[in-house]
Amino acid sequence: MIKRFALIPVLQFILLSLLVSGCDVAQSGQNTDFSGGLRELADAAGINLGTAVGADYLGQTTYNRLLNMHFNHVTAENAMKWHPLLSGGRGNYNWMDSDALMQHAENQDMRVRGHALIWHSQNPGWLDNGSWTTASLLELMDEHFAALSERYGEAFYSWDVVNEAFNNGVHRPESIWYSTIGESYIAEAFTRARTHFPDARLYYNDYNISGGYGWTQSKADLVYDLAVQLLADGAPIDGVGFQMHLQLDHDFSISGFKANLQRFIDLGLRVDVTEIDIRIEEPISQAELQQQKQLYKDILTAYLELPREYADTFITWGIGDAQSWIPYTFSGYGGGLWFDEDWKPKPAFYGIEEVLLAYVE
Ligand code: XIL
Repeated sequence: MIKRFALIPVLQFILLSLLVSGCDVAQSGQNTDFSGGLRELADAAGINLGTAVGADYLGQTTYNRLLNMHFNHVTAENAMKWHPLLSGGRGNYNWMDSDALMQHAENQDMRVRGHALIWHSQNPGWLDNGSWTTASLLELMDEHFAALSERYGEAFYSWDVVNEAFNNGVHRPESIWYSTIGESYIAEAFTRARTHFPDARLYYNDYNISGGYGWTQSKADLVYDLAVQLLADGAPIDGVGFQMHLQLDHDFSISGFKANLQRFIDLGLRVDVTEIDIRIEEPISQAELQQQKQLYKDILTAYLELPREYADTFITWGIGDAQSWIPYTFSGYGGGLWFDEDWKPKPAFYGIEEVLLAYVE
């Protein structure tokens, strides 16, 4: 039997080892002495740091660890779209994936962004190919919003009410909502969303609207005009979601981005970054990963310079490259997220960490 005093050097050794290995962990965080999760920094910064959650990944050990460690906000990558919910026919909801997400969010005390109530894409065939009148489609809209509201009550912190209304400078003709109801479907959707989700923040959400150059400025102008019109009509819109599916070799103007968001703020609207990823052409070099890190840093830094009352939500479109929609959507591209194919942190992750650390210090 070891006498009690003999344990003291042993304990000292264990403590010393822990301290030393703790230093190693901190050093692996590249230029930072912080080895905790981004969630802690996001909470301290007073921002919602979010990710799109893939239903196939939720529940996997590594995925869940990263999700819980780094994010205080979640949205459904697909689970709350019409097709996943309603491929079985009108009123025949499959809640499996959305229930799993809502349960996880509740257990982990994460805020939930609903995505998306009205969209031209990922609709079931019976919706897109049905023969509708304005009245019957508005009734369906009400029915769907009511079903989500009854299922999850007040659990939604925010909603993408209308997603991607525009393409090529006009309303999308392929949208069943637009082709049946006309452009008033947007205001109708916001009014109904407010009825069914009285406390949720309500957003118009779109891509290629970060502003500052070329087509992202002209599309941002369209959305700006829409926002002005909705506000003039008294539609209950709270903000605009900037998806920001970017490509590393495209031009990006940080000052243009900031000025663009600021003009929406000047209308009294919130501005959320809702789906950011920065794809890179394969094969991807170390230098490109560093450039990507810098772009993420510049965007988050500019975003945090906007007033927190209007700009407090930054959402990445997935945690790791293994999960990302990029390779199967943009052929020859990948590497858009903060963690790699093996769920290891990339330079982009450390870039986000550095910006948040500097902000909270
Ligand atoms: C994407 C998902 O990531 C994919 O898994 C799915 O196959 C297609 O939709 N804009 C949006 C998102 O608003 O819903 C899209 O998500 C990406 C573009």
